[in-house]
Amino acid sequence: MTRPLRVMTVFGTRPDTIKMAPVVRALAAAGPAIVPIVCVTAQHRQMLDDLLALFSIVPDYDLDIMRHDQSITQITTRVLEGMEPVLRDAKPDVVLVHGDTSTSTAAALAAFYAKVPVGHVEAGLRTTTAFEPFPEEMNRRITGRIASYHFSPTSRARANLERENVAPADIIVTGNTVIDAFLAVAEKDVAFEEPAWAGLDYTKPWIFVTAHRRENHEKMAEICDALAEIAALPQKPQILWPVHPSPHVSPVAHARLDGIAGIKLVEPLPYDVTVHSIKRSMLVLTDSGGLQEEAPCLGKPVLVMRDETERPEGIEAGTLELVGPHHSAIVGATRRLLEDEVAYARMSRANNPYGDGRAAERIVAWLLGRLRAGTMPAPFAGTRS
Ligand code: UD1
Ligand code: UDP
Repeated sequence: MTRPLRVMTVFGTRPDTIKMAPVVRALAAAGPAIVPIVCVTAQHRQMLDDLLALFSIVPDYDLDIMRHDQSITQITTRVLEGMEPVLRDAKPDVVLVHGDTSTSTAAALAAFYAKVPVGHVEAGLRTTTAFEPFPEEMNRRITGRIASYHFSPTSRARANLERENVAPADIIVTGNTVIDAFLAVAEKDVAFEEPAWAGLDYTKPWIFVTAHRRENHEKMAEICDALAEIAALPQKPQILWPVHPSPHVSPVAHARLDGIAGIKLVEPLPYDVTVHSIKRSMLVLTDSGGLQEEAPCLGKPVLVMRDETERPEGIEAGTLELVGPHHSAIVGATRRLLEDEVAYARMSRANNPYGDGRAAERIVAWLLGRLRAGTMPAPFAGTRS
C-alpha cells in the first residue's frame, strides 16, 4: 500500500489565504491518502486571522512574521528562516504555495533548499515588465522557476509557462481557486444591518474601491483626489473603500478623504461582506489582482488602477478596463459608466473566464492521481531549459 502523501500548504496574506482556503478544505476532505499540513507565515497578521476564523482553518505552524511597515527583504528573510525548522519537523512530500506574494516565493525557495518539490497554485500569470506589479511579477517568475508542478488558472497562463519551457505535462489547467472561495460565500446572504453599510443610500449607485499596490504608494494621493472628484459628480455616487492597513495607504486615504460627503472609508472587510458589497455595487475601482477575477463573476465592471494587468482574459472579455493610477483617466472612465448606459451594459455582461468553482478539487485529484501512479513525490524538476 502506498504511504499517505504529506502535503503542506503555505500562505499568509489576505489574497493567498482566500485562494488557498479551498485547497486546504479539499486536502482535508481527501481521506487517508493525504496528510494535510498548514503553515501560515502571517505576513498579514490581522487580515490572516480573520480569514482563518471565517474558513475554520487551524494552522499546524505559524511563523508570525508581520512587522509594522515591513520591507520586502524583511518578509523574505523571515519566511526563509522560519520555514527551515518547519520543513525539517513536518517532512512534507510536497509544498503548495500560491501566486505572487513574497510569502509564496520565499516559501518555495525554502522548500527547494530542503529538496521538497513545490506545487505552484495560480501559476503562469505574467505581465511584460518586472516592475508592474512590483515585486509580484518577479516573485511569480521565481516561484515558477522553482516549482515542479504548475496549477494554472487558464489556458493562457499555461501558454505563458510553455513559452518559458516548462514541460507541458507539469502544467495543469484547473481554473482559479478564487472562484471556489467566491462562489461559496456569494451563495450565503449577509444581513442588511452590516455595519460597513450603515449610512449608505441604497437608491444611489455604489462604487467599491480598493488600492494598495507598492508601485501605487506614490500615487495614493492622486487616486484619493480622483475619488473626491467622483463623489462630487451629479449622480452623487457613493464610494465604499475598505482601506488596506498599510502605513503607505491608510494615513493618506484618511487625511485626504475623511469627511467628504459620499465617501465611506472603513476597516478591511470580512471576505463575505466584501463579496456582498461588490454585489451591491455598480462598479469596482481597484488595483487588486483578486478583485479583477471576482467582480466580473457578478457582472460588475472593473476599472483597474494599473497600467498593465496579468489578467488579460478580463480585458478581452470587456469586463476590465485599465485606467492606471491616473486622476483624469479614473474620473473619465467612471463618469462614462455613470452616464452611458450602453457602455455600462457592454462592460457588465457577466463573464467568468477564471473557472467553475472546482479548481481546488482538480488540484487534489491530480495529486492523488500522481500518488496512485507512483510518480509522487518527484524529485525537483524545474524547467527543461
Ligand atoms: C502584500 C503582497 C501583495 C498583495 C497584498 C495583498 C508582497 C510583497 N506583497 O502587500 O502581493 O497584493 O499583500 O493585500 O508580498 N498590515 C497590518 N495588518 C495586516 C496586514 C498588513 O497592519 O493584517 C500592515 C503592516 O504594517 C505591514 C503593511 O501593512 O507591514 C504592509 O504589508 P505587506 O504584506 O508588506 O504588503 P502589502 O502591501 O500588504
Ligand atoms: N478583500 C476582502 N476585504 C477587503 C478587501 C478585499 O476580503 O476589505 C478580498 C477581495 O475580495 C479579494 C482579496 O481580498 O479576494 C484581494 O486581496 P488584496 O486586494 O489584498 O490582494 P491582491 O488581490 O491585490 O493580491
